[in-house]
Amino acid sequence: MVQTILITGATDGIGKHLAKKLASEGHHVILHGRNPQKLELATQEVRAVSVRGRVSSYLADFSKLEDVYQFLEEIKRDFPSIDVLFNNAGLYGEKERKTSAENVELTFMLSVLVPYILTTDLSPLLEKAPDGRVINTSSYMHHFAKVKDLDFGFEKNYNPSLAYNNSKLYTIWMTRYLAREFFLRGSNITVNSYHPGLISTNLGNDSSDEKTKKSLFGRLMKSLSKNLDEGIETGYYLTLLKEVTGLTGYYFDEKKVKSVSEKGYDFEKAQDLITYCENKIEMFKNKSTIS
Ligand SMILES: NC(=O)c1ccc[n+]([C@@H]2O[C@H](COP(=O)([O-])OP(=O)(O)OC[C@H]3O[C@@H](n4cnc5c(N)ncnc54)[C@H](OP(=O)(O)O)[C@@H]3O)[C@@H](O)[C@H]2O)c1
Repeated sequence: MVQTILITGATDGIGKHLAKKLASEGHHVILHGRNPQKLELATQEVRAVSVRGRVSSYLADFSKLEDVYQFLEEIKRDFPSIDVLFNNAGLYGEKERKTSAENVELTFMLSVLVPYILTTDLSPLLEKAPDGRVINTSSYMHHFAKVKDLDFGFEKNYNPSLAYNNSKLYTIWMTRYLAREFFLRGSNITVNSYHPGLISTNLGNDSSDEKTKKSLFGRLMKSLSKNLDEGIETGYYLTLLKEVTGLTGYYFDEKKVKSVSEKGYDFEKAQDLITYCENKIEMFKNKSTIS
């Protein structure tokens, strides 16, 4: 059956490669990107391999909540239902902490706040699909998160790897929280997170954290990276395969349910995370009403 699949961050790496594979099998792919030139090029590339030519594209810079909400308006205007929301866009931050207008640190914004907003706002569209799925991109690096003094904004202590590892743990918390919420309200939407593997992409190439990039560890990681065909295997599996139907709240790696770090099961902290997200959303909405 032809599926309608929205992939964020589809202008490069894993997102673009997955979009091409899905389009080449006849699915309707909705591409999201932040850079107009890259989005145009990606759309052409995906369209060129698409079987039915059903490729749509939308521009939004996810470091700005006004862009996120504008993007949502456009999606809701253009699509009555969506089968899969693939929250893929992500970044490895710079040496200095960067934030949105609401003082949300950007790694967190891309990995947690925006996926949370997209999932909750698009849930009516996902509910209209027979098997609505949300896939959140986490990482094995969540195992290295430090959660002793929780600081979702990384205001007291910021460095790019702490922000990345913690945000990927928060992705798991958010996934488990939303999976439970949907289940409790009788919704058919499933929400899972996954690790794509260590994949050779542009991730971190823009980071000014030269120390990490040039370190022995950084170079070793690069040399161990897998290619993009391998990098989309688990994402593809979660998007289309029947085996996943009904599974919700899980973390996948290599097409299997895997245990998360013990920290991943802390439901109280997950609730604090959602409160933090809701406060930021409210702050944005109040500001938008006033101005
Ligand atoms: N590669 C790995 O080994 C690995 C491992 C574990 C998890 N992951 C996760 O997999 C996901 C995809 O990463 P990738 O490796 O494919 O990296 P990538 O090649 O850098 O792709 C990241 C995508 O996110 C988009 N993006 C970045 N900042 C954005 C913003 N402010 N607004 C909107 N979109 C933005 C990028 O847009 P531009 O094209 O404009 O830059 C690009 O389309 C990420 O969530 C990453 O954390 C990757």
